[in-house]
Amino acid sequence: MEKKPFYITTPIYYPSGKFHIGTAYTTTLVDTIKRYKTLQGYDTYMLTGVDEHGQKIQTVAKENGMEPQKYVDKMAEAAQELWKKMKIDYDYFMRTTDKKHEEAVQKIFDKLMEQGDIYKGEYEGLYCMPCETYFTKTQLVDGKCPDCGREVKPMKEEAYFFNMKKYTDRLLKYYEEHPDFIKPEYRKTEMINNFIKPGLEDLCVSRTTFDWGVKVKKDPKHVVYVWLDALTNYITALGYMSEDTTNFEKYWPAGLHVIAKDIARFHLIYWPIFLMALDLPLPKQIYVHNFIVMKDGKMSKSKGNVVYPEQLIDRYGLDATKYFLLREVPYTQDGMFTPEAFVERYNFDLCNDLGNLLNRTVSMVNKYFNGTVPKYNGTRNDVDKQIEEFAINQTKIIEEKMDNFEIANALQEIWNLISRTNKYIDETSPWVLAKEENTEKLEACIYHLIENLRRIGILLKPFICDTSDNILRQIGIEDEKLKTWESLKNYENLNNIKVIKKGEPLFMRLDAEEEINYIKNCMHK
Ligand code: MSP
Repeated sequence: MEKKPFYITTPIYYPSGKFHIGTAYTTTLVDTIKRYKTLQGYDTYMLTGVDEHGQKIQTVAKENGMEPQKYVDKMAEAAQELWKKMKIDYDYFMRTTDKKHEEAVQKIFDKLMEQGDIYKGEYEGLYCMPCETYFTKTQLVDGKCPDCGREVKPMKEEAYFFNMKKYTDRLLKYYEEHPDFIKPEYRKTEMINNFIKPGLEDLCVSRTTFDWGVKVKKDPKHVVYVWLDALTNYITALGYMSEDTTNFEKYWPAGLHVIAKDIARFHLIYWPIFLMALDLPLPKQIYVHNFIVMKDGKMSKSKGNVVYPEQLIDRYGLDATKYFLLREVPYTQDGMFTPEAFVERYNFDLCNDLGNLLNRTVSMVNKYFNGTVPKYNGTRNDVDKQIEEFAINQTKIIEEKMDNFEIANALQEIWNLISRTNKYIDETSPWVLAKEENTEKLEACIYHLIENLRRIGILLKPFICDTSDNILRQIGIEDEKLKTWESLKNYENLNNIKVIKKGEPLFMRLDAEEEINYIKNCMHK
């Protein structure tokens, strides 16, 4: 059977500095959803990359004493190195300085101009010379530039505009007819109330105050507004407006765009409107996630509260880092990073709950059955029946959560299965069954433990891939068929399975105080 395509994207990041755990969160999340969809049998394609144009990048490059192109080359390499370290399984890395993308942006701009959606006008605003930025009256602080505090001057310049007003009603109708388009739904309400109802302004889509961008082909003193350039990356990455449109035909419309709340307006209003103007189908869903914040608010270098993913990965491993990020950002609220919570999750969730379950089970299979997992011999009592039903039902619950992008809740549900399985050991007391030589019940107990661990291993695969592989290896699951999502439907799979001779700890317990201090020190580096 032909696999259904599923195209999933991260935003493309400004390469204006090192990526912190907040930036890494979006990518980790998208990677997780991609892996989940792949396991479910979709033909997935994941896009990430860097947003390399615009005044901000030109300024940062200058501050670093580099030509913009040299600077972005270096930064794009650093980004790819980080994603490699984080084992991010992307299929295409977009760089907006890529010629193919630049040419497509020019063609898109031309097309929109030819059909009258983009027109030439005059941009009027209050301009801050040193910051080279326009502000509206309401953005000013005490009548001065909100960034540098200096005087602003009214200025006018020739610019191109996109006729947003023409599409407002169509967008509202689309929202109404596609209730699942935006997740969570309250983000849609925010857009309608804050931006659409008060009246959409036409959007200025060109600049002449700097030149680091895609030149408007027919009027090259203008460069294309960085957001128009950046948003179109989702389609140019697939070859839209290029010679080879195979991927575009296969993967567009996207199954899912994932973004954070700060860039919602661009993705929920402008992007759908640009697509309507290009007469293209809209992405099926856009998921807007919340932020990772610190105790004292947003992460910022000046506050000295930034944590970089490398710092955590190098000391605690990739999976512990990913686990924390995915586990701590709830569906409708910001998630908080604290060193205390990080160490607690590590010691309790990973070391105790998960690690001990695996370790205890492997050692019992060795002790009581010489390493070979007994065959399924049916449920022997109510306790067995309950754990079986619980395990099967959990898969459905986890799928529901994942399909609704409640990622932290999905992980919580996996941990409920882990806790329930740990409780099952206490309920059945296999050491007593062994002492009483109650082989039938002991066989049933061990079978259920291994089968639940196999399920936990598979369910964890999208989130913490290496740990998942490690669990399945230790319990002797080699057959690829027993590692599939599909295999979760059946509880009676295992036959002639041998666990490893001596269990290996998944995670080593941390000295809480020492590690909390270690992470606190990282924040000030
Ligand atoms: N270049 C634009 C996106 C263009 S997409 C066509 C951009 N780049 S960014 O580098 O500033 O941000 C990239 C993503 O990281 C955004 O979704 C942003 O909101 C997200 N995050 C940045 N800090 C974050 C946290 N502290 N927590 C979670 N996500 C955060 O915007």
